[in-house]
Amino acid sequence: MARPATEWVNVTSNISLIARDSGEVWFHSPSGTKEEADPFATPMTAAGAPGSTIGLLDGAINLGFSGIGHRLARPDPTVVGYIVALVGAYHTSVDTPRNLRRAASRFKELGRPEVAAYLEERAREETGHDRLALKDLRALGVPAERLVANFIPEGIKPLCKRFDDLCVEDYPIGCIGYSYCLERIAALKQETDIEKVQALCPNGVDATRFLRSHSCLGSEVAHVEETISFVATLPANDRITVVQETYQSALIMAEGYNHELLKSEAEMLEELEQAVGEALPYRASSSPSRGEKHSARAVA
Ligand SMILES: [Fe+2]
Ligand SMILES: [Fe+2]
Repeated sequence: MARPATEWVNVTSNISLIARDSGEVWFHSPSGTKEEADPFATPMTAAGAPGSTIGLLDGAINLGFSGIGHRLARPDPTVVGYIVALVGAYHTSVDTPRNLRRAASRFKELGRPEVAAYLEERAREETGHDRLALKDLRALGVPAERLVANFIPEGIKPLCKRFDDLCVEDYPIGCIGYSYCLERIAALKQETDIEKVQALCPNGVDATRFLRSHSCLGSEVAHVEETISFVATLPANDRITVVQETYQSALIMAEGYNHELLKSEAEMLEELEQAVGEALPYRASSSPSRGEKHSARAVA
């Protein structure tokens, strides 16, 4: 019987992820192992397979988030927190098509038409998602354009910068890892998560267009599946970089989202009102001291 395919990627100085096509995933620390006796000390070179690709990509996300696991904010959702999250969603999607097309044209120059075609398809699919967030903000009675022009949530800035930087690299394969990280996390959102947000919104207001589209009910599930299939076909060096970048993006995302989610509702409202230069039709339901956990979960 053929042995199941095994893939591995070193993601930190002392942790490698190992995954089998059968679905098993584990972390491996080479410390104390003699290099010649450690089969995972040298980079993998064999072809990929979808089962092990999922294991590596999702393992990278889990590892990235595990660092903040014990201090992960789990606030009750509020409209004010949801507005901040929608602004973040806008900023993480507004430049996506342009960035992906830039990376695609680089892969055309590099003689990799299959990567270029994949990225161009992704760029088409992501077009207009920023407008979903704007529509949701407008539905909530917020001056959406002015708000997003004047305000990027502090915790979202490093994430946007990472994607911008990845897409202009000489060899921008890492942008696939970043996109996978965001889409995979979005696809974890369930119908009940959307219902909770809907329950916060004023009666008759539909402000969950972006959230629905970036949840298990929307296109993200297909995007995740397509990315896994595509990554599995890439050469080993590309798969290694994609998994490493998935891990780096998860680290940045975990820190950034936590930064936003740990703010009090009053702090968030103040930031929003300063950005638009007027009072918003919402009041903080309480004024907790700094560091207490009162806000909505991020939507992107
Ligand atoms: Fe999107
Ligand atoms: Fe997507």
